[in-house]
Amino acid sequence: MREAGEQSAEAVKVEENRQYEQVKQWETEAEARSMKEAAVALQASGEEADSRGCKLVGEIVRKGKDGRERKAEKQGDARALEVLCSMLRRRNLLTTLLIALPWGLLLTLWHQYPTTRYLSLLRKETDENVTAKSLFNSTSLVREEGSLCARQPAVVTTARIIRSYVYARPPPWSDTLPAIFVITPTYTRPVQKAELTRLANTFLHVQNLHWVVVEDSPRRTNLVSNLLEKAGFNFTHLNVETPKSLKVGLSWIPSHTPRGTLQRNLGLHWLRENFRNTPPPDGVVYFADDDNTYSLELFEEMRYTKKVSVWPVAFVGGLRFESPKVSPAGKVVGWKTVFDPNRPFAIDMAGFAISIKLILEKSHASFKLDGVKGGYQETSLLKDLVTMDGLEPKAANCTKVLVWHTRTERPTLVNEGKRGFTDPRVEV
Ligand SMILES: *[C@@H]1O[C@H](CO)[C@@H](O)[C@H](O)[C@H]1NC(C)=O
Repeated sequence: MREAGEQSAEAVKVEENRQYEQVKQWETEAEARSMKEAAVALQASGEEADSRGCKLVGEIVRKGKDGRERKAEKQGDARALEVLCSMLRRRNLLTTLLIALPWGLLLTLWHQYPTTRYLSLLRKETDENVTAKSLFNSTSLVREEGSLCARQPAVVTTARIIRSYVYARPPPWSDTLPAIFVITPTYTRPVQKAELTRLANTFLHVQNLHWVVVEDSPRRTNLVSNLLEKAGFNFTHLNVETPKSLKVGLSWIPSHTPRGTLQRNLGLHWLRENFRNTPPPDGVVYFADDDNTYSLELFEEMRYTKKVSVWPVAFVGGLRFESPKVSPAGKVVGWKTVFDPNRPFAIDMAGFAISIKLILEKSHASFKLDGVKGGYQETSLLKDLVTMDGLEPKAANCTKVLVWHTRTERPTLVNEGKRGFTDPRVEV
């Protein structure tokens, strides 16, 4: 039994060994097969590569054969390159767009927020001012009321934002900087508001500027009053009407009283009255008509005038500019003008500034109304104040143009009033 058992156990072992060998063989065979397959695949791809290489070589050879053909090929290649480049560019563009778009959106949103807020605040401005005022009154009357006190800060804060924005535009008044008193004669006409707006936009940048606006009208107009008040200027608003007999072109008798003479004189009169009992400030007087364009630099040039300072003016006297003639020593010795250069002061109204102290000292100096020849208006004032020797050339010894007699074109309004055009209640 025991022997038979041993025999069968041996037989089992042999069988196991045989099976193991079999499996091993299968495995080797499979491996070999896969290796062979891989080799075949490799060979195939190699052959393919070879054939491709042949093709390339063939192509190169073919290209080499014919010059003309080669040229055509080259053109084709160039075209292909172009297409490739444009594709690349398009891809670049796409990339740029993809980068720029989100940033653009972000920036737009960012910019839009304060702008829209400011605009909505501006629209509400009048209401808010009224609210602020009434609130101010009511709080001073009923201070104990808790609800009012609680509501007050919010409203006041908003009002302060608006005020500081609007009124910060003229720079704060300085006690050390000389003042500039600008006298501007003006009269009602279609472009008046546009002209005054342009001037206001300039003057709002100038520190210690006081604007004396003198209207040629029987009364001060709302248009000018509103414009001055809204801008938050230091201003004085006056008016004097030029009598019909003095108006240019309205009288049969030829008159040489230029527009604005009475108005400029009233401005001077106001200055002398204003500083009759108080010590005058350091500073200058400048006659700035409303049809000129002024550089901001001009005001800093004139600010420290001792007596009378002068500089060139563009687009006057039929020239690109007229200028005082300055000697190498830096003295004014004459006038570079075509029209009557022998006038004592051949200078445009916009070409000089006078110190306030001189205006107050020479209290009788003013523009003359009668017997003034054309072009002698400026002379009629200056000859009572200064001699040519006392003139101070500014604007780099009168080599820079800082003021232009631009004049706004008179608009054609031939269709105005026809078929109900336009709404006369709208201020223009
Ligand atoms: C003006 O000219 C004078 C004399 O030649 C010179 O001393 C001065 O520096 C000049 N001023 C300017 C601002 O060029």
